[in-house]
Amino acid sequence: MAAAILASGPVRADGNPRKGAALFLTCNACHQVGVGARNAVGPILNDIVGRRAATRNGYAYSPGMQEAGAEGLRWTDKTLSGYLENPRAYLRGTRMAFAGLPDPQDRQDLIAYLKTLKFDNAAETRDLR
Ligand code: HEC
Repeated sequence: MAAAILASGPVRADGNPRKGAALFLTCNACHQVGVGARNAVGPILNDIVGRRAATRNGYAYSPGMQEAGAEGLRWTDKTLSGYLENPRAYLRGTRMAFAGLPDPQDRQDLIAYLKTLKFDNAAETRDLR
């Protein structure tokens, strides 16, 4: 038990974007990022941290996600961590068929990686206010 805790180390609040990039390979099955990214099974995830939920142009969100966005859900470290831990428990009716990342360090690392994705294009985005 103690050994397992030592092996995984303390959870770093800032996260490791390199590890996050490796973890993103599982997201990549459904989400594109970077220059020239397109909406796929899931929406483009460029500049997702700080963005209001369900605000990507040209993507047909589930009613549950649209409602959450309309009610003010914004993707912060905290809300992303909650959603990525267990998407369907966190957001009723979400269409994201992903089991979730149980390890809090994995979620921090992934969010640190998402923060590096800055290739946004105003034309891709609905009114964010
Ligand atoms: C099996 C496909 C699939 C996988 C794998 C997947 N997603 Fe998604 N994701 C979706 C779909 C579909 C939606 C839209 C959900 C909705 O409308 O309810 C979504 C929505 C999202 C959103 C909300 C986007 C917005 O514009 O509000 C975030 C954030 C997100 N996913 C992050 C991730 C991350 C990070 C991973 C990897 C850990 C991941 N997803 C893995 C399919 C997937």
